[in-house]
Amino acid sequence: MSTTALLRAAPDAIAAAARRVMARCDELARVSAESGSIERVYLSPEHARVNRLAAEWMRELGMQTWQDAAGNQVGRIGDPSAPALLMGSHLDTVIDAGRYDGIAGVLIALEVVRLLRVPADGEAGDGWTVPLPFALEVVAFSDEEGTRFGKALLGSSAVAGTWDASWWALTDADGVSLRQAFLEFGLDPGRVGEAARRPDELVGYLEAHIEQGPELDRAGEPLAVVSSIASARRFHLVVEGEARHAGGTPYDMRHDALLGASEAALAVERICAGEHHIMGTVGRFEAFPGAVNVIPGEVQFSLDLRGEFDASRDHVWDALSRQLDEIMGRRGLRWRSREVHSAPAVFCAPLLQDVVAGGIRATLPSRSDAPPVIFSRAGHDGMALGAIAEVGMLFLRNPDGISHHPDEAVSAGDVAHGIRALAEAVLLRGAEPR
Ligand code: GLV
Ligand code: MN
Ligand code: MN
Repeated sequence: MSTTALLRAAPDAIAAAARRVMARCDELARVSAESGSIERVYLSPEHARVNRLAAEWMRELGMQTWQDAAGNQVGRIGDPSAPALLMGSHLDTVIDAGRYDGIAGVLIALEVVRLLRVPADGEAGDGWTVPLPFALEVVAFSDEEGTRFGKALLGSSAVAGTWDASWWALTDADGVSLRQAFLEFGLDPGRVGEAARRPDELVGYLEAHIEQGPELDRAGEPLAVVSSIASARRFHLVVEGEARHAGGTPYDMRHDALLGASEAALAVERICAGEHHIMGTVGRFEAFPGAVNVIPGEVQFSLDLRGEFDASRDHVWDALSRQLDEIMGRRGLRWRSREVHSAPAVFCAPLLQDVVAGGIRATLPSRSDAPPVIFSRAGHDGMALGAIAEVGMLFLRNPDGISHHPDEAVSAGDVAHGIRALAEAVLLRGAEPR
């Protein structure tokens, strides 16, 4: 029986696998810093709890497990001396998150291991392996979102060996530094380099993720091949004016930081919407001193900027900077910015795009020969992994395209398709030269 026929013969196993993914997404959603909503940030007690659960699920599959030096949870199966095909995604969340962003990708990868593993010496119970020319590893990355420290992709950057010593000084909203948070979590900052993997240890990185946008839902398609992941930059911006009496200060004497920052936020929308494949978002906006009867003297806000290409993203930032100079100059305000995150666009490897497309075709043979190919506007761990490995991604339909929101959804049927397609992609990769 060919390997594809093997998967075709396993519809019940795949349906059960999808039900397990949905149930485990529910279980992980209950591990939250806030009751009634989902919030699980890097190096928190909730991070430790989901790592323990993921490790348990990995061991159940016969995987060898470890938590790496940056708090990523890893499981491995197969020849201990062979290079590994990495699969995975992240278990951290944004604030008031949905339950599938990242999480579904980790759990789908575990189900792929379950489908593909075979008894190590022909008999169940004596350990498991995978009938592939490489080992399989599942990585549950610890920080993709950057919710706690502003800098995204901390977990995957450690694995990629691109950790930057300047990040140790980053602080969270309570003033806790990244270095301190490492120590409190039980990690040694001096050993973060040990999480780094060498390119020769890796066959590639394959990730399944919900789309986080409406393209597949609109097209009525359950799955897509990802062609590239958007480049990103994030900034912390400060506008300074003058705090004065709200009643006594005539308009010609005001330097209202809130109005300048508001004009800036509108400029972000205007400039970004006018460009192809550029998205700009002001997601955090705070006025000081924050009193009803005081003109705001200072505003701090965030800017998240993404583009298909690094050059177009940077060109938009230059245009925005000029616009901010104009707005603030006209209003007698000052502004400054600090870049807190930067990641280049990552283009999925042609071979991994091919095997993901082959996986989709094997899973949905009645559809067209050419599965949809989508550019990801959302960021993913593959952006960091691209520094050391070929990256491939499979997108699953996200009803209504809603994500980073409690209503985020994916259907069990699409998860079943996703599990099968990813398993087929792994098998197809196994049939190619290393
Ligand atoms: C992660 O979801 C991001 O794109 O910000
Ligand atoms: Mn996300
Ligand atoms: Mn994600």
